[in-house]
This record gives sequence, C-alpha cells and structure tokens, in this order.
Amino acid sequence: MIPVLMVASEAAPLAKVGGLADVVGALSAALRELGHEVAVVMPRYRGIALDGAQRVYGNLDLWFGPACYRVNVYLREERARYLLVDCPELYDRPGIYGPPGRDYEDNHVRYAVLARAAFALARHVFRPRIFHCHDWQASLVPIYLRTILRYEPTFIAARTVLTIHNLGYQGIYPPSALPEMGLNEQAASEAGMEFFGRYNLLKGAISSSDRITVVSPTYAREIQTPELGFGLDDLLRQRSHAITGILNGADYSEWNPETDPYIAAHYSRDDLSGKAACKRDLLDEFGLPAQPERPLIGMVSRLDSQKGFDLLREAAGELIAEDLTLVVLGTGNQEYEGFLRELVAARPDRVGLRIGFDIRLAHKIVAGADIFLMPSRYEPCGLNQLYSLRYGTVPVVRSTGGLEDTVDESTGFKFREYSAWAMMEAVRAALAAWRDRPRWEALMRAGMAKDFSWKISAARYSELFRELAA
Ligand code: ADP
Ligand code: GLC
Repeated sequence: MIPVLMVASEAAPLAKVGGLADVVGALSAALRELGHEVAVVMPRYRGIALDGAQRVYGNLDLWFGPACYRVNVYLREERARYLLVDCPELYDRPGIYGPPGRDYEDNHVRYAVLARAAFALARHVFRPRIFHCHDWQASLVPIYLRTILRYEPTFIAARTVLTIHNLGYQGIYPPSALPEMGLNEQAASEAGMEFFGRYNLLKGAISSSDRITVVSPTYAREIQTPELGFGLDDLLRQRSHAITGILNGADYSEWNPETDPYIAAHYSRDDLSGKAACKRDLLDEFGLPAQPERPLIGMVSRLDSQKGFDLLREAAGELIAEDLTLVVLGTGNQEYEGFLRELVAARPDRVGLRIGFDIRLAHKIVAGADIFLMPSRYEPCGLNQLYSLRYGTVPVVRSTGGLEDTVDESTGFKFREYSAWAMMEAVRAALAAWRDRPRWEALMRAGMAKDFSWKISAARYSELFRELAA
C-alpha cells in the first residue's frame, strides 16, 4: 500500500471555508479505507483543539533568510491521520485566509511554512511515496521538490500530484515575496513561476508536478480554454497529457436524509413523507409563512461572482414575481449581500436570507427545499448539487464543470448560456414540473438513486498513485 502525504489548507471537520475541506476530509478517509497509509498536513488554525493530540515534532525552527518560524506538530486521529502544524504567529488568527473578503498579506509565508513543515515530517515522521497537494496553498511542495530539494536523496523516489479545485485562485506575489518563501529568481524560473512580472504559485506547481488532477472531467477540459483558463490555459494545454479529471464524491456519512441529525424528519427514496416536515421546519427557521403549496428554492453558497450571483441579481425581480419562495444562506462579497438584503426588504414574505457560515442550516436547506439553484459562472465540481440529489431536492444548474457532469435531464434542469434569461427559463421549467406531482417524484427518486460516493473517485486516485509509484 502506498504512503500518501496530503498537504492542504482546509479539511473538514477541522477547518472549512468551502468544498476543498469536504474533499480533503472525505478523500483521505476513503483512501485509507482502500488500504493506503494517509496523513494530512495542515495548519493548526485558531479553534482546532489539541485535546488528545500527540506532539510528534517539537520546536522545529524553519528559516527563511533572516526570518525564523518555530513550529510544533501534533498528530490528531480523525477518520484520517491529521498532522497539525502549530505556529501561533502565523495561524492563530480570526480567519483561515484573512478577515472577511480579504487575504492576509503574508499568506505566501503561512503556506511556505506549511510546505517546509511537511518536508520535515516527511524526513522524520512519515515518509510518503506520493505528495498529494491541493490548490495554490500547497503548491510550494512540488516547487521546492523541483528546485531547492532536487538533489535530496530522501525525496528522489517521491512523486507529486497536484489537485486543482479552483483555477480562479493562484497565489500571485511580487518579486519581494520570493526570498520570504526561501526562493530566488533562478529557482522561480526553474519552477516556471514567472507570471507577468510577478510569481505565481499555482503556475509553478502546474509546471513542476508529476501529475495534475482536476475535480471534474468537464472542468479539466474547460481550463484548457482561454475562457476558463485564467491566463494559464496555454501551460495547461502543454501539460494536457499529465492532466486527469476525477469527479469529487459526496460524503454520504454526513449527507444522508435517512440519518442526518440536523433535519426535522428523516426520509428515503421509498418513503418521501418526511421531506414535507423538513420544508415546514425550513420555512419556520427563516420566519417565512408556512405555505407548503408554494415551491421553495434553496441556495447555499459562497457569495462570489463564480457562483452566478450576477445572474441572480439581474433576474431577481422576475424571479420573485413567480409564485415561489427563496431561501439563501451564504457569506462573502458585500455587494451581493446588499442586493440580497434589498430582495428580502422588497418581499419579506417570500425571501429568506441568512448571512454567515452555518453547517446545520446548510443541511436544513438541502433537505427542506424543493429546488436547489446553482447558476454558477464556472464550477470545478460543486458538491451541493450532489448533496441535493441525495435529498430529493431537484437541482437547477448551469451546464458548466462538475454541474454538467453530475446533473442530467432525468435528475434536474440545466441551462447553458450565462444569462438571466436562460436561468429563468430553466427555473420556470422546474416550477412547471413541480406542479406535476408524479413527474416531480420521478425526478426526485432518480436523483436519490444516483451514487456519487467517494468509493469510486477514491479508487481513481488510488490507480493514479499506483501508476506513479510503479
Ligand atoms: P465551493 O467549494 O466552491 O464553495 P462546493 O459546492 O464544492 O463549492 O462546496 C461548498 C461547501 O461549503 C458545501 O459543503 C456547502 O454546503 C458549504 N457551504 C458553502 N457556504 C456555506 C455557508 N454559508 N454555510 C454553511 N456551509 C456552506
Ligand atoms: C472548489 C470549487 C468547487 C469544488 C470544490 C472541491 O472550491 O469551487 O466547485 O467542488 O473546490 O473540489
């Protein structure tokens, strides 16, 4: 079995901003179930408790030029083995990446320390064959291996896999940041990090990793086009033989209407009756009138332009003119928050809004809504549509990335053109279907029967690791 060291900036249940955390938490556990030896290295952010954790590396001093960071590493056993890098001056802060809507200015240093700690662990605590690195925050791992660590015998046999969850975030820094990450211009150039006078960590990792995976087959193709390549499509086309699309799974131990501890009543494909109680409970949660005869649309999302809030804003008037109720849970961009608040003010009896991050309420929305709306501008994979399918909540999605790969006409509604008009047409089709109860139940049941469990996806990663380790 292959020893795999995952390096990531989020993992559920310890720290979560978005789907990356769900994936790292569930994939590491699923790979372990397949027999691999897996450990996840991540920062010990504020709020991650160390009760019962064991210190596995003490007083490690990591030098970057004149700056030194003292680190301790703790092992915490969850479903996977977590190696928590403790460095209070870098990680004990109110936010994971920054204060709301912003990034900490020293994020490159925070994740350089994470990468260097991962190598110290790989030397002395857990020797991996595969470094599995997620997004730009882990990109310094393949970059260091290709440059300053190239001749270190310990790592000669190590292979790197970069998983891209979102090409929209690349980690781009000015030249002054290079020495702060322990690099110089020559190393940066060897790693292929140059990017219009600055240095791009994800670009370096795309150039330096042995293999690249992308979280859905469609997104793997889309990032190789100028429309969705975020300036890296040329490079990605050059590396296209090294790229594989592997769809994310859904963690059905967390997301299952038969056992979910957060929802008002349990239900299943064979007995849908509990869903009505979940809908009542959800309307009540938002202080909306109990009107089961009106279709309820739910959204749970980062408030970000990626997620299609421009369309929602444009279509808002038309949308609430329909006979429906809308509930939204999200946090992020203030501008989107503003228009959503206006929408509530205009129709307090029809629109519910909760700004914040609330896992319990996310489950209630996925269970209690009739329709789940994801009008994303782009969506590398998307997890909420997978959860919704399992809960008999019919998704209305834009045909992009993983949404294209996981929703079809037997389970939901799709639109292609990124326009308010196209979105409204799909919403209206869904509303019409909702009024045809037998048709609607067929849609619900077809979605609930789909299997997007991690078993299948983890097996694909496993195959890839085996190929690389051979
Ligand atoms: P992304 O990673 O781009 O945000 P995904 O669909 O892959 O999108 O995953 C988002 C994850 O974060 C899901 O588990 C979703 O339920 C959760 N989530 C997003 N926003 C919130 C929120 N405001 N409160 C609770 N959970 C949220
Ligand atoms: C990113 C993407 C999302 C994907 C998640 C997990 O945050 O935006 O589409 O599901 O990562 O891979």
